[in-house]
Amino acid sequence: MTTPTLDKYAVIGNPIFHSKSPFIHNAFAQQTNEQLSYSAEEVEIGHVRDFIETFKRHNGKGLNITVPFKLDAFELATQLSARAKRAGAVNTLTISPDHLHGDTTDGVGLLNDLTKNHRQNIKNSNILVLGAGGAVRGVIEPLLLQAPERLVIANRTLSKAQQLVKIFSGIGNISACDFNELKGQQFDLVINGTSASLSGELPPLPDKLFNANACAYDMMYGGDPTVFMQWAAQQGITNIHDGLGMLVEQAAEAFFIWRKKRPETQTVIKELRQKI
Ligand code: ATR
Repeated sequence: MTTPTLDKYAVIGNPIFHSKSPFIHNAFAQQTNEQLSYSAEEVEIGHVRDFIETFKRHNGKGLNITVPFKLDAFELATQLSARAKRAGAVNTLTISPDHLHGDTTDGVGLLNDLTKNHRQNIKNSNILVLGAGGAVRGVIEPLLLQAPERLVIANRTLSKAQQLVKIFSGIGNISACDFNELKGQQFDLVINGTSASLSGELPPLPDKLFNANACAYDMMYGGDPTVFMQWAAQQGITNIHDGLGMLVEQAAEAFFIWRKKRPETQTVIKELRQKI
């Protein structure tokens, strides 16, 4: 009797050695009893199309896409979900005989982490999002769909924040400003979506930015609290989270797209926290 060929999944990026996705997806597969393989693949810049074709011939069924290939994935997809179209980015590809379907699960991942794991209320709240790059663009729509009172995007380069306002203004109350204009304003939820944490930097934020019981959330994560999280703690905030839960939740959404099963995320988040 021959062993049936496993459905193959992978995350592609460059570099990719640091990826936690194989750990997460293999944990999901075990938990839901799904027979599949999931690996991390480093793809040479400019070779995404070739990689996908070869992967498909070897029973490849789906890919997660990370830096720097999210735009390539967006362009190579032959079908796009509405949310991927609006976000202008794809982090999940589903491979079928006739199509390459592109979707983005980052926004749902953030929302699920905030609302389910951290019990954060979004409806009628005042939200500040720091940054206006690719990471932020993917999370604006699901946040606005929860009907916050207002969502402000603050960015070092104001024009980029204004660009996002143009794209998403039909969905909810969204406005743009630069960091100087934040003085005197207060928020219930402040999400750091800048890449400043990567280099240990902090955007120039004024004191008293948080309302009482506010939440500070950094979309980045690491072994130690990011500079933004440390700053929030100095401001007297105790409801502070990093993006590890978002990472696992966006993976869970991708797993659901592929296998139509919703994995349980809490244990995987806990295990991953111990690993890092
Ligand atoms: P990503 O895909 O991670 O979002 P990106 O598209 O390059 O990466 O966007 C990085 C974001 O972090 C931008 O909003 C950037 O601000 P600019 O648009 O002004 O470049 C922001 N950023 C990076 N380093 C920063 C810093 N030291 N202080 C403030 N904002 C910073």
